[in-house]
Amino acid sequence: MGRPKKVVLAYSGGLDTSVIIRWLIENYGCEVIAFSADVGQQEDMEEVRKKALATGASKAHIYDLKDEFLREYCFSALRAQALYEGKYPLGTALNRPIISKYLVEVASREGADAVAHGATGKGNDQVRFEASVMALNPNLRCLAPVREWEFKSREEEMEYAQKHGIPVPVTKERPYSIDLNIWSISIECGILEDPWIEPPEDAYIITKNPLEAPEDPLYIEIGFEEGIPVSLNGEPLDPVTLVTRLNEIGGEYGVGRIDMVENRLVGIKSREVYEAPGATILYTAHREMEHLCLDRETLRLKDHLSVKYAEITYYGYWFSPLREALDAFVDKTQERLTGTVRLKLYKGQCIPVGRRSPYSLYDYNLATYEAADAFEHQAGEGFCKIWGLPLSVVAKRRPR
Ligand code: ARG
Repeated sequence: MGRPKKVVLAYSGGLDTSVIIRWLIENYGCEVIAFSADVGQQEDMEEVRKKALATGASKAHIYDLKDEFLREYCFSALRAQALYEGKYPLGTALNRPIISKYLVEVASREGADAVAHGATGKGNDQVRFEASVMALNPNLRCLAPVREWEFKSREEEMEYAQKHGIPVPVTKERPYSIDLNIWSISIECGILEDPWIEPPEDAYIITKNPLEAPEDPLYIEIGFEEGIPVSLNGEPLDPVTLVTRLNEIGGEYGVGRIDMVENRLVGIKSREVYEAPGATILYTAHREMEHLCLDRETLRLKDHLSVKYAEITYYGYWFSPLREALDAFVDKTQERLTGTVRLKLYKGQCIPVGRRSPYSLYDYNLATYEAADAFEHQAGEGFCKIWGLPLSVVAKRRPR
């Protein structure tokens, strides 16, 4: 493969991707176009653009993808109740495919012959970028300079940056590696690499310590239409406003801290800390809606498939036939998932306390133990006899 001539780089504005701009120019003599997505990382994107250009990019494209990210990626995972290894709401994993989609798009518009990302060789993100690019344009080359270059440490990288006039972080950085977007924050490295040590308070960015959360609980109501969250306390809100508000409210009540050891796709276990107040509230509420509105067997199968949904998302198979097929199943299950869930936020907890829906399958007359009881009690006799029959057959052959 010859040298790439024009490369579109997924640029975050951080040290690694800034060094990559220079490194690509120096090593390949190619043109570098920066692409940055605003996915709610709370950064001044104008500054990011300026920095890309000052570092040597020939152009810098900034796209605001928050709305599409929530609607098409996060809410799909939410409707699937996908949580990796039962805990992680997949913010970083969901973010890579949408960035890849636009990398490929910009590359095609700019006539670039390669794209590049800043992920390392031992993480999940390289796989997600590269598998997504392969799925969307199998002829496009994908470069991973961090896997290739000569720097052995952050110090060496800083030295290179200084030598080439790349602005290096002056403020004391947090001693963690952080990936931040509107759906969740991933925090790793530093002291967190010891899975026995409780994460220090300074690891958390948007959630209060539950011990310092308000003394009184807060009740909120989340409205759903076909499994999509659409309102807060009766007020219709677009996805970005809704999730932003829930992040603030949840953060204030210490909701959404996740501390886990997870299996990376490349085979290693890593200690990860996540903050996802909005996602935690929405998963809890959505789950409750399903308990009220889905029939038992659909709920059971959906629970199995949610594990698979989370895995393939984590593994970088977002743009895959399986994910499309799973979404088709999930869509069908969400047709009647319309209603409201009431939640209590209290010192780090998010507890569902009420639920209602025009499609509720809860039947008071069947459930009640009061006079209105309409359940046919006598039918229970035959039901038990038949249900227990196979066990009695076994017992007769094998007396205990
Ligand atoms: N373990 C998480 C994942 O694979 C988070 C990765 C975080 N990346 C980072 N640059 N800090 O989705």
